[in-house]
Amino acid sequence: MTTRRHFIQATAGAALAAQAASAQRTISPNDNVQIALIGVGGMGSGDVESSLKVGGTKLVAVSDVYDGRLVHAKERWGNDVFTSRHFEEVLQRPDVDAVIIGTPDHWHDIISIAAMNAGKDVYCEKPMVQHLAFGPPVIEAQKKTGRIMQVGSQRVSSIVYKKAQDLLRQGVIGEFNMVEAWWDRNSANGAWQYSIPPDASTTTIDWDRFQGRAPKHDFDSKRVFRWRNYQDYGTGVAGDLFVHLFSGMHFVIGSLGPTRVYATGGTRFWKDGRDVPDLMLALCDYPETDSHPAFNLTLRVNFEDGSRENQGFRFIGSEGIMTIGNGVTVSRTPREAEPGFNIETFADATQKEFMKDYRDKYPEQRPSADAMRPDDEEKFLAPPGYSDHLDHHKHFIEAVRTRKPVIEDTTFGFRAAGPALLANVSYFEQRACKWDPLTMREV
Ligand SMILES: NC(=O)c1ccc[n+]([C@@H]2O[C@H](COP(=O)([O-])OP(=O)(O)OC[C@H]3O[C@@H](n4cnc5c(N)ncnc54)[C@H](O)[C@@H]3O)[C@@H](O)[C@H]2O)c1
Repeated sequence: MTTRRHFIQATAGAALAAQAASAQRTISPNDNVQIALIGVGGMGSGDVESSLKVGGTKLVAVSDVYDGRLVHAKERWGNDVFTSRHFEEVLQRPDVDAVIIGTPDHWHDIISIAAMNAGKDVYCEKPMVQHLAFGPPVIEAQKKTGRIMQVGSQRVSSIVYKKAQDLLRQGVIGEFNMVEAWWDRNSANGAWQYSIPPDASTTTIDWDRFQGRAPKHDFDSKRVFRWRNYQDYGTGVAGDLFVHLFSGMHFVIGSLGPTRVYATGGTRFWKDGRDVPDLMLALCDYPETDSHPAFNLTLRVNFEDGSRENQGFRFIGSEGIMTIGNGVTVSRTPREAEPGFNIETFADATQKEFMKDYRDKYPEQRPSADAMRPDDEEKFLAPPGYSDHLDHHKHFIEAVRTRKPVIEDTTFGFRAAGPALLANVSYFEQRACKWDPLTMREV
């Protein structure tokens, strides 16, 4: 929610950022791009692995508030990696060109701003910010410092989504009028019930540092390792998963965002002390723009869906459906040539005979015209082993070297995070919210 408290917090974050020393190394084409990781958890570690796979990159420093993660970083990436509980010490190092931010959401804006002010390029995990008020200062910092900042929704770099973009532009489904997007899960891990290390304590964890500007609580290891369950640190299913769906869809369609968001849902299954819903639905209005017709978006996350985890999109158009899931599939059911049902136009002789027989036997029943129109389906798959995450890191490192802008910059990132966070506002305040996608503000 955008409250006065959050504006004050955003200002405090900017002040903290200003303390970081500005240091900038010139990278020659033969040099490694030297990276640092802040937040050595599941995703941050995966980000480092992808970044190292890009090639021409070297991890030189990491920061985390939990000692176990610092020890693990040295075991995994070498004893000479610098480690610290304090991210400022990493940002002050002149040998760091770019930082990957893999902390919980409540630290994203503070560390991004501090890093850019310290002359570093930034790869920040999604959602770009935890609250709406935190977005504009990050965009401003990127503009002011001229640093590269890419947000970590990797679908934006995916060849599958690029294919979907091309197909949509070619008009393969006619004029689209609706998009359905979903991400359903049915596991404890999927619902953020992660394991907690047995040595978790105030000795091994800098609890004050973890909390930062969040409301203060007594130490609770669940809050550290299952932070997504709490509004104090995370952004619920909307900031965790809707934001990926917004990013992917905005990339495919070339949209700046919705003008209205309404969300509903509840905490139906995971009654484990979390203060965020485990089932959420959102409806969004996208009026016509130069890049797309008017359409509606439905979003769904359900953590107690009794099937396998599945996620995807259906782009629904006047002439067909484009699905993104395992690759892109376009299916078209040709519209009947004339209203009604003319058996004489059937090309297949057996089918024609069957239909005539059917008509003679059951003259009172009109067979469904839809049933007799064959679907025409085309599927496009990425090559086996393809990783959009690796491509996303390639794009980032390329931008660090060439200084050419990335697609998923702070503006793109906030245009995805904004409506996702607005879904939280709508859910918690039980109201429909209006959004200006151009100025990126609630109206
Ligand atoms: N792009 C994706 O597909 C994807 C997938 C998963 C997570 N994420 C994002 O990555 C981020 C991290 O998620 P995760 O699942 O890896 O969480 P995690 O809990 O595994 O890791 C977070 C790490 O940050 C550390 N940390 C907390 N505060 C810190 C601070 N002030 N300074 C330094 N370290 C700090 C924690 O100790 C922890 O090690 C989140 O923003 C999440 O939304 C993105």
